[in-house]
Amino acid sequence: MTDFRFELLKQDTTSRARRGRMITRRGVVETPVFMPVGTQGTVKAILPEQLKEEGAQIILANTYHLFLRPGHERVRRLGGLHRFMHWDGPILTDSGGFQVFSLGKLRKISEEGVRFQSHLDGSHQILTPELSIAVQEALGSDIIMVFDECIPYPSSREYVAESTALSTRWAERSKKARSAQDGSALFGIVQGGMHADLRRQSAEQLMEIGFDGYALGGLSVGEEAERMYEMMDVALPLLPDNRPRYVMGVGTPENLIEGIARGVDMFDCVMPTRNARNGTLFTSFGKISIKQARYADDDGPIDPDCGCYVCRHYSRAYLRHLFQSNEILASMLNTRHNLHYYLDLMAQARVAIEEDRFEAFRADFYRRRNDGGL
Ligand code: GUN
Ligand code: ZN
Repeated sequence: MTDFRFELLKQDTTSRARRGRMITRRGVVETPVFMPVGTQGTVKAILPEQLKEEGAQIILANTYHLFLRPGHERVRRLGGLHRFMHWDGPILTDSGGFQVFSLGKLRKISEEGVRFQSHLDGSHQILTPELSIAVQEALGSDIIMVFDECIPYPSSREYVAESTALSTRWAERSKKARSAQDGSALFGIVQGGMHADLRRQSAEQLMEIGFDGYALGGLSVGEEAERMYEMMDVALPLLPDNRPRYVMGVGTPENLIEGIARGVDMFDCVMPTRNARNGTLFTSFGKISIKQARYADDDGPIDPDCGCYVCRHYSRAYLRHLFQSNEILASMLNTRHNLHYYLDLMAQARVAIEEDRFEAFRADFYRRRNDGGL
């Protein structure tokens, strides 16, 4: 039996934005929420305590990576992923249905699952819905994702239709493979590429199987942002109000605002953490690249509107120096600021929905970017 619940607390009347709450066996998650990505059992360059301080409520980990190294049975023997990585909050695990498909020609799909060669040692492996669920349960995940195919873009309509049907069969097998006593939640993943009718069909078939939450997959794969919003507009209104909705692998701050306005509750993306490590920082007036020479003598903070630890103690000049010198602290400080930016944006969005002014909040978000700026 699952210990999982979702409560819809408030529906904004100026947009389709919603304020909700997920109750997982490892604590409460206020939505809309952004989930920092911890692919290898670590959110890169930041301690779990610091993640908490910056407002992270739930993090994401990956079946594919932890299955190959260090191995899910080893993690289980060592007390599960929470204990292993010293994070006691909720963890959502992706099923491998995205990572395996990034392997290109190193993989082969069949009804059974996906055969692939490890990117680490070239060993031959097969991931099936049953094994993906077993790995996620062994890790001790609180929210488990069904095994699916993230369809490349562009693909022929025929390919999209067949792949989506296969993902639906895999979703059914994923649900059957669950052990009865595991207290985690299981989410379905809507596919259907960029075709409105296939998205609708996928959503309806998944709802028939029945899941604790519903994700939209196969988005942010190279399509125009407008296309992605169109697919959200098609699929989200079909999904049950009393279940959380998660858009996988999305996205930019703009994508989050647009997703929330359309009724999305959950997001994850490597963007804040990856960009931090290559010197791209998010601010209320847009992105900046800290390596630029213009910051060499700039004694001000990254963002005067940011209250994070980094902006309270360090100058742009120092952060540029660290980056130019390839210092590890550059990644640490930049990651902390960028995650603060993403998590704080979500916290502000939650308050705006509570106060029934999400549309005004969205307009203000765009106004700041346009007239501020460097
Ligand atoms: N992450 C981003 N997109 C996807 C998707 O379509 N499926 C899965 N499993 N993970 C994703
Ligand atoms: Zn900051």
